[in-house]
Amino acid sequence: MALKIAVLASGNGSNLQAILDKHAAGVLDVDIRLVLCNKRNAYALERAEAVGVPTLCLPHTDYPDRESFDQAMIKAIQESGADTIVLAGYMRLLTSAFLQAFAGKVINIHPAILPAFAGVRGAADAHEYGVKLAGCTVHFVDEIMDHGPVIIQAAVPVNPEEDVETLKQRIHSAEHRVYPQALQWLAENRLSLEGRVVRLASSDKPKLAAAGNCLVWPPLEEGF
Ligand code: GAR
Repeated sequence: MALKIAVLASGNGSNLQAILDKHAAGVLDVDIRLVLCNKRNAYALERAEAVGVPTLCLPHTDYPDRESFDQAMIKAIQESGADTIVLAGYMRLLTSAFLQAFAGKVINIHPAILPAFAGVRGAADAHEYGVKLAGCTVHFVDEIMDHGPVIIQAAVPVNPEEDVETLKQRIHSAEHRVYPQALQWLAENRLSLEGRVVRLASSDKPKLAAAGNCLVWPPLEEGF
């Protein structure tokens, strides 16, 4: 059965687009019940509307506090029928109440190899630090920012002299491969937790450990 998801985004929505594209290509078994944005000008809203996916904009500035805003989101998501929350460039911390409402079913993508460079400037911080391998991480969300169990990571080599914008673009390209893959593993019910270690049940699908110039682990499977 398709994974019923709500995608939360605050901005451009290129990860949302990657999810929409893989879904349209027939390799990602999701039912996108709602795209929810906390900013009126989020381009993610247009991307969803363009393909007839339901959207809702709830500007967080319309609410007196974080708790009441998250309660409004919980209500809207539950009404949509989604039970899995996909954070795709959603740039706000979630309350405990929100995480409890969708316990174990909230996932996020972060533009760094966690646990290094958590926070809102992941890729820029890695670039400034001078790492030789940057990258991205898809993980389950827990109460601590950018901390939950890791599902998949991609390591993106940093080219000497590369500016931060170019690096960010290359990290984005890796994100667009690994996020739909992680969602498909979730849809196939192949992820389980041992403590904070995510185990992936095996399959006989052909695998690809490299995506462009990066190392991806666990390897991407056919279609991603
Ligand atoms: C992505 O790079 C994502 O990893 C990052 O925001 C960007 C959203 O891009 N998220 C975070 O930094 C969360 N801490 P998009 O709107 O084009 O998908």
